[in-house]
Amino acid sequence: MEILTTLQAIKDYAAQAKKQGKSIGLVPTMGALHEGHLTLMREARAKCDIVIASVFVNPTQFGPNEDYDAYPRQFAADCEKLESVNVDAVFHPEPAEMYPEGYCTYVNVEGDITHKLCGAQRPGHFRGVATVVTKLINLARADEAFFGQKDAQQVTVIRRFVEDLNINVHINMVPIAREENGLARSSRNTYLSPAEKEAALVLSRSLKAAKAAFANGEREISALEHIVTEELHKEPMANIDYVKAYAYPSLKPLTEASEDTLLAIAVKIGKTRLIDNVILSA
Ligand code: PAF
Repeated sequence: MEILTTLQAIKDYAAQAKKQGKSIGLVPTMGALHEGHLTLMREARAKCDIVIASVFVNPTQFGPNEDYDAYPRQFAADCEKLESVNVDAVFHPEPAEMYPEGYCTYVNVEGDITHKLCGAQRPGHFRGVATVVTKLINLARADEAFFGQKDAQQVTVIRRFVEDLNINVHINMVPIAREENGLARSSRNTYLSPAEKEAALVLSRSLKAAKAAFANGEREISALEHIVTEELHKEPMANIDYVKAYAYPSLKPLTEASEDTLLAIAVKIGKTRLIDNVILSA
């Protein structure tokens, strides 16, 4: 696997692949790779001739009081994992390579889709995500890019700017990877103590309860949100940031749940903020 750390290195690598007529799949990550990321890599491997992963903890998507400094960085272990799923190249730049002195251009997706859910809780977050993902897609000259459903709102935002800015890439959303006990895989799970990890199971449990109610005919949005909230309240370590249902992928408000309803939650377990969701048809 090639390790690319400069803009010039990834540009040259992508140019070479294009010259050979190869399709390029990009999997952007912030590292601390887990099975969820590897699922994305495998999807990319199955669909594209060349797979480029990026490992970059993107400073512009973190708020001033968020976990940018503490975010787990374990590049050597990440490389081993990437090699185990036959990734061709990893792009791992320093922040100054991506945002050099004088940098002042950002991609800002305006409107409702960035103002709710995580956008409401984390001002500026999606501006940082949209900016770095635009840069990564351009640098890798990606034909396909792969993202997890755990960040379902992120996928809606990325699809929006890709369409609005006429970027020639196809965005793939891959289902959430879960541990056997239901916990959605996340790099932030590494922050959890054993007791917190046990408490965090309440997230998937609460969504499962709502999904079961939907399967049994419950269609009222407030009733489904209430089922989730009730279940979360049973766990003393859980502090709810939001429990919300929207149409997916539009993220428009709903009065009645249907097969494309996204039920999304953000919950703090101790100091760790976790997100999870379910699309009711799934
Ligand atoms: O989902 C993530 O890990 C990040 O938001 C992404 C897409 C890699 C951009 O930094």
